[in-house]
Amino acid sequence: MADTSNQIKHVISPLARQTLQDGSLTRPVAGVRPIRLLPWLQVVKIGGRVMDRGAEAILPLVAELRALLPEHRLLILTGAGIRARHLFSVGLDLGLPVGTLAPLAASEAGQNGHILASLLAADGVSYIEHPTIANQLAVHLAAARAVVGSAFPPYHHHEFPGSRIPPHRADTGAFLLADAFGAAGLTIVEDVDGVYSDDPNGVNGGTAQFFSETSAAELAKTDGSLPFDRALLEVMATARHIERVQVVNGLVSGRLTAALRGEHVGTFVHTAARR
Ligand SMILES: Nc1ncnc2c1ncn2[C@@H]1O[C@H](COP(=O)(O)OP(=O)(O)OP(=O)(O)O)[C@@H](O)[C@H]1O
Ligand SMILES: [Mg+2]
Repeated sequence: MADTSNQIKHVISPLARQTLQDGSLTRPVAGVRPIRLLPWLQVVKIGGRVMDRGAEAILPLVAELRALLPEHRLLILTGAGIRARHLFSVGLDLGLPVGTLAPLAASEAGQNGHILASLLAADGVSYIEHPTIANQLAVHLAAARAVVGSAFPPYHHHEFPGSRIPPHRADTGAFLLADAFGAAGLTIVEDVDGVYSDDPNGVNGGTAQFFSETSAAELAKTDGSLPFDRALLEVMATARHIERVQVVNGLVSGRLTAALRGEHVGTFVHTAARR
């Protein structure tokens, strides 16, 4: 084959003459672990269903977050909750495609974030949009101890069409950000104590067994319901930094605080990332 490399205008780099499709060629360059951009960052994903409960659930959680500010620098990300479920049922009924539903559901997650940020505004906390999270999180967290954003990943109109309901939702989005930043941890705040063998509020709830510890690989073998997006298991399988997340009950005062201090108060879900 003719050597055309001297006709290609490129800077010299180890990948210049290689296809990016061949893992054996790219691995020596791309296979190394990325740096941790914000190793002190704690990411907290607040479930939309916690927010749905209104003042009774939100105000104690806000008080807990406020008390955590001197101790941690937080990226607080909110899920969509019941309004997105309603939106999905109306949208699906109308035949709307997944790429139309995804940004609509994401806007519900953003609304919950705005609510939370308003309640923490007096403590210097603001809601910031995705481009700001991507490019200016460090400067925002130099000015304030925490910021709030939407946990939904911005796949929007590019959402994968495999399912009519957007598969990449708040838990996937929160995990992708935490892993990309090389954060110190990700805590997923739910309205249940953690992950069970079955929905504890479902018809088989009485026999559901609580897992104090499990792994993405173990959960991927089951096909039951989970308290987070199933797509989270896929991104956990290729995680680079976050070795485990903890799922905790945000309706029980003190659980989030304990989790951020490294205590085991919910379910540890181990990922495939290794130190
Ligand atoms: N295996 C399971 N273990 C624990 N809870 C489960 C399980 N399967 C289903 N659930 C249910 O999931 C509910 C939480 O739902 P979901 O995760 O959708 O809410 P959320 O995280 O607050 O919402 P969002 O994803 O919009 O932020 C729990 O109240 C529980 O009833
Ligand atoms: Mg959940």
